[in-house]
Amino acid sequence: MSVGDLFERTAALDARFVMGTYARKPVMFVRGEGMRLFDDGGKVHLDFVAGIGAVNLGHSHPAVSMAVVDQISKLTHVSNLFYVEHRDELARDLVVLFGEPAKVFFSNSGAEAVEGAIKLARRWGKAHRGERCFHIVTAERSFHGRTLAALAATGQPSKQEAFQPLPDGFSHVPLNDVAALENAVTAETCAVMLEPIQGEGGVYPCDPDYLPAVRRLCDERDVLLILDEVQTGFYRTGPAFAHTAYGVLPDVMTLAKSLANGLPIGAVLARGDVADTFQPGDHGSTFGGGPLVCAAGRACLRALAAEHLGENSVAMGAYLRERLHALAAETGAVTQVRGVGLMNAVELAAPDAQQVSSRLLAKGLVVNAIGPHILRMLPPLVCEKPEIDTLLDALYETLQSPDGGGDRA
Ligand SMILES: Cc1ncc(COP(=O)(O)O)c(C=O)c1O
Repeated sequence: MSVGDLFERTAALDARFVMGTYARKPVMFVRGEGMRLFDDGGKVHLDFVAGIGAVNLGHSHPAVSMAVVDQISKLTHVSNLFYVEHRDELARDLVVLFGEPAKVFFSNSGAEAVEGAIKLARRWGKAHRGERCFHIVTAERSFHGRTLAALAATGQPSKQEAFQPLPDGFSHVPLNDVAALENAVTAETCAVMLEPIQGEGGVYPCDPDYLPAVRRLCDERDVLLILDEVQTGFYRTGPAFAHTAYGVLPDVMTLAKSLANGLPIGAVLARGDVADTFQPGDHGSTFGGGPLVCAAGRACLRALAAEHLGENSVAMGAYLRERLHALAAETGAVTQVRGVGLMNAVELAAPDAQQVSSRLLAKGLVVNAIGPHILRMLPPLVCEKPEIDTLLDALYETLQSPDGGGDRA
């Protein structure tokens, strides 16, 4: 098959047989290595999306690959009815990273982790505070996933409208507004759920004193604090979990994305007494916590720590923002730079983020547009200065020239 044929054939199959929930970019990746992605024609791209923040170690990390090959040749799946290798060790490793006594439930994705956290909070609220205590307050512009309860928790009406009625019991408040939260938390509230840094909403961090104030409010009102660290987790912002920088501990934390460097896994972690609210039969998953993904997760956590990627995330994130601020000052095409560690976004003056990301793709730079004005950068945490320089050169060129770029990258 000649170069191009594979892409054409695949795109035709996709159009005919796969539901059109994504407007895919016209590129097909066949291999990855660190920051690099190779398309079907062998062209090299620098990846500033990392599978939407799910490949923090970089593509094809040998430690994760070896763990997967070793485990898949022994045992892939038997279900949660039995003990297996790696599940309990990975749970222990997560609790050690969390730093406080806690227990873990494994799911297959971020949305499922959020669903688990919602169920746990409702179970806890009803058991501790009464039958009506099942409401959860979340933030406007938040994103918690696409399943129905996670979507109800999500503070983005545009994503919800077509699927009404959504499950009852969710309300939304503006982020970083303590007074609004104080008013929204009632006797029926069992939990407040927040992302430490909103990701899909456009990379908006909680203010430094906001999360501590939320923690105090939750303690005063006997309400659980759930932090959704699906996107911020695993050294994306520097520390293993973003909440550390705020000096707060959640009662419940949701994780997924880079827990196994791109393999499908999610987790709900809860402090011991809250976790013990779940009884046998309350929650479950056929695949969650299987030995294959958990072997990958253990290898991933070991490599993330051994390679000091949290430190690299802080250093490279600072360098990226410094260069983005300079670009903003010189071109006027960027009105705001936001981010922490290697979770960053720029707000463009013109509503052409999709077009800019397409033109960057044509230059071999993979960057994700979220909304008409926002470009988000979530590279693997192995990202180095020369790669950031390449991105910035391409961004200068793209923002300064009126048009360009072809249909295919
Ligand atoms: C903060 C947050 N929570 C939940 C989710 C949903 O995760 P998944 O797509 O794995 O279901 C996402 C996905 O982007 C997320 O960023």
